[in-house]
Amino acid sequence: MNIKAVVFDAYGTLFDVYSIEALAEKIYPQKGVAISLAWRDKQIEYTRIITQSDPHNTSGSKYYKPFWELTRLSLEYTLDRLKLDRSAGQVDMLMQQYAHLAPFAENLAVLHELKAKGLVTAILSNGSPEMLNSAVKNAGMEGVLDHVISVDSIGLFKTAPESYALVEKIIPIKKIEILFVSSNSWDALGATWYGFKTHWVNRQGLPLEALTPHPDFSGADLRSVLDSLRN
Ligand code: LAC
Repeated sequence: MNIKAVVFDAYGTLFDVYSIEALAEKIYPQKGVAISLAWRDKQIEYTRIITQSDPHNTSGSKYYKPFWELTRLSLEYTLDRLKLDRSAGQVDMLMQQYAHLAPFAENLAVLHELKAKGLVTAILSNGSPEMLNSAVKNAGMEGVLDHVISVDSIGLFKTAPESYALVEKIIPIKKIEILFVSSNSWDALGATWYGFKTHWVNRQGLPLEALTPHPDFSGADLRSVLDSLRN
């Protein structure tokens, strides 16, 4: 491999979303897991509905909403669906947690190692710019990420090919010189189909998706990316 840039997904890959489950559990005892799983599923479902079904034409997207707004709407829906009382204060608390996520324990050291190898590092995320910048700052990653790329500029969420194409527009190198890293199997799959070299961070020990071609590499945490780069 002749990799020149390593591009990461944000939520679940660089930023640990577990704290959301913990806070949800505190606010709604016994419901933390159910809330965090349903919230995440609904959030991603909304991105897919918008990107697949919006007649986005030259005059601009009609139904696009920034990821931050979709995150709030999907949380409100989830609490209603689970028949849980919600006040603006409870929703705000959970949303603020989203803007201040901790990184996974090994992540900062891995990013430092990638920079020491002279590689370009970046995020490509569905997240809107403000929420990404806040998470990057909170995780202490400002000095180890060269680019924070949000799909917000084109109004199309991953896994639209146009969203992955943003990377080459911002980092002027070839597709095959990019290693794309995601803990979301759907994202790793989309990026593989797009033509990047890919690494799936399989933190939960899940089986490979039934659709192929599969990502080129996988491993249990972000350190495994360093092994993939040696191949
Ligand atoms: C991201 C989410 C979807 O794009 O993980 O960062």
